[in-house]
Amino acid sequence: MPDLEVRPYEKLVFVYDHLMSHVNYKLWTNYIYKLSKPYVSSNDKVLELAGGNGMFSNIFLKFYPNILVTDKSFEMLSSGKNKLRKVCCEMPYIPFKNKFDLIYCTFDSINYLTNKKDLLKLFKEVYNILSKNGIFTFDVSLERNSLKYVAVPLRTGRRKNIRYKHLSLYNKNSRIHKNIFEIRFKGKIYKEIHRQKIYPLEAYFDLLEKAKLLAVACYESFSFENAKPTSQRAQFIIKKINNAVI
Ligand SMILES: C[S@@+](CC[C@H](N)C(=O)[O-])C[C@H]1O[C@@H](n2cnc3c(N)ncnc32)[C@H](O)[C@@H]1O
Repeated sequence: MPDLEVRPYEKLVFVYDHLMSHVNYKLWTNYIYKLSKPYVSSNDKVLELAGGNGMFSNIFLKFYPNILVTDKSFEMLSSGKNKLRKVCCEMPYIPFKNKFDLIYCTFDSINYLTNKKDLLKLFKEVYNILSKNGIFTFDVSLERNSLKYVAVPLRTGRRKNIRYKHLSLYNKNSRIHKNIFEIRFKGKIYKEIHRQKIYPLEAYFDLLEKAKLLAVACYESFSFENAKPTSQRAQFIIKKINNAVI
């Protein structure tokens, strides 16, 4: 039976919670809260980029009740059983003029921007909508993480009557990590190809500077230790250059 190729997350949305069942969102939201607390007050305006089905923000609401969630995928945004405020949009084309005090983007979503032009455009958009003393925090997946995943490239899973296969491929030359999903249900096989760019850690610092943003910290994810180019993941905390205390 031929595969039907569909857009990223169009069908994966049905098994996304299952795929993410190893992720402890409670610990994760606590970590991002600890990072943001010194800079942000509870009633401040908060924006999530690439928030998916809102799983993270639905828990994060207890710290910051004024959250607006965005994502490119309408399917993901509309699938969450929550009362979050949501807007469907692409990260580099944020359709708001008002300012936010905290902007965040989690779980390798930034890596979906596969060229530097889009990444720079995103950073410039963030500069425009970040309040004077606000912060932008995001995590990135680094090469060590890709190499770890391709060591066991094929994973399979099942949620109710939906079966899925997940193949992970990494090209060291192009630094493109491909996640290929095959999702089988109702007698059909759907295929999604997710492409993510694994930029070297330094590339983020260069582009941030071009957008007049400064990394006030860059930690190994889930810690308060400085990230290294050989880390698996890094967590950035960004301010506008004019307001950063250097
Ligand atoms: C791995 S999921 C993470 C979702 C959510 N942050 C979480 O932690 O559960 C990546 C998300 O990025 C979104 N995404 C990918 N490219 C995007 C873009 N250019 N603009 C906005 N969202 C994007 C996808 O639709 C997907 O929901």
